[in-house]
Amino acid sequence: MKRQNEPRYIERVREHYRRRREAGKPVFILGVETSCDETSAAVIQDGTLVLANVIASQAEVHKRFGGVVPEVASRRHVENITLTIEEALDKAGKTLEEIDAIAVTYGPGLVGALLVGVAAAKAISFARGIPLIGVHHIAGHIYANRLVTEMRFPLVALVVSGGHTELVLMKEHGSYEILGETRDDAAGEAYDKVARALGLPYPGGPHIDRLAHEGEANVPLPRAWLEPDSYDFSFSGLKSAVLNTLHNASQRGETIEPANLAASFQASVVEVLVEKTIRAAKAHEARQVLLAGGVAANRGLRAALTERCEQEGLALVIPPLSLCTDNAAMIAAAGYIDYLKGNFAGLDLNGIAGLPLSDRTMD
Ligand code: KG4
Ligand code: ZN
Repeated sequence: MKRQNEPRYIERVREHYRRRREAGKPVFILGVETSCDETSAAVIQDGTLVLANVIASQAEVHKRFGGVVPEVASRRHVENITLTIEEALDKAGKTLEEIDAIAVTYGPGLVGALLVGVAAAKAISFARGIPLIGVHHIAGHIYANRLVTEMRFPLVALVVSGGHTELVLMKEHGSYEILGETRDDAAGEAYDKVARALGLPYPGGPHIDRLAHEGEANVPLPRAWLEPDSYDFSFSGLKSAVLNTLHNASQRGETIEPANLAASFQASVVEVLVEKTIRAAKAHEARQVLLAGGVAANRGLRAALTERCEQEGLALVIPPLSLCTDNAAMIAAAGYIDYLKGNFAGLDLNGIAGLPLSDRTMD
């Protein structure tokens, strides 16, 4: 893209935005998500109504490698992106002419994967002269909740996925304060590593969850509370403790019931996640507790968080599973807030692997 095109582009975008805002019609946002191993495109209306949310998962491809292979993920995104966007528009019954803005995940994630979505979004934005909005992936996970119910502030969100474990405080739309995060492995990553040690397929989270319900939490394992006032998490010590338990048992010629080990591991993860979330919600007088990310699928976590929130009189929101795992509807939902603020990216928008979550979703 030549630089001299930029002023003209910005003018066209601003003009498009002004005209659409004046018309006062419903707002249709096209969302694009390619940060990891799902290629997804969605169309949502007025920030909350999902008209289409198409997800092309690559999980089957990565399964045989036991994890996501970045190069393979990028290639798959390139193959899938155009079709996925077309399918989303089709399902929503919309044409590109009817789309008001395009919102895309620009980090954090695998940089080669992010770039595919960012390049596609930039091309559409440039071709149609519509606003381009860069969305932080975690903001997207949190906004999955707004597709279910209106947010009430202040709120505390627990985001737990294969790549993230964060406790976020939101005092208003578009403002994010990280209260705590993992110092080593993400919660889902710990699940996947323990599952691997137990010989379970990738991704292992759902398999451990299933096994945990068949066993008893009778294997003593540590809980990483860290410093008394910390909202940070740590899962690598727990993962090592599980591996050591397996190793020691096999050296002694004993067998450990995998279901009991899974139940014990899950109990340790869930207890720390839930108690820190409850403590944060009480300390900040949260009006809502939100759960987001792929690990929100965990039955043990959902049950324990529901029970503790009920005890404490806290309102809990958990989106349906299809909105907990990576998808573009949540990206469009977060992007809608920037749309209302006129907070747009330029054609220099880039994929950023380690993008921090700050008050603004764009520079
Ligand atoms: O949000 P997500 O789809 O992708 C990332 O952004 O990482 O999360 C995927 C992660 C994987 O680590 C997977 O094992 C975990 O979520 N997961 C679960 C469950 N279902 C998915 N972990 C625990 N219990 C589950 N039921
Ligand atoms: Zn995610």
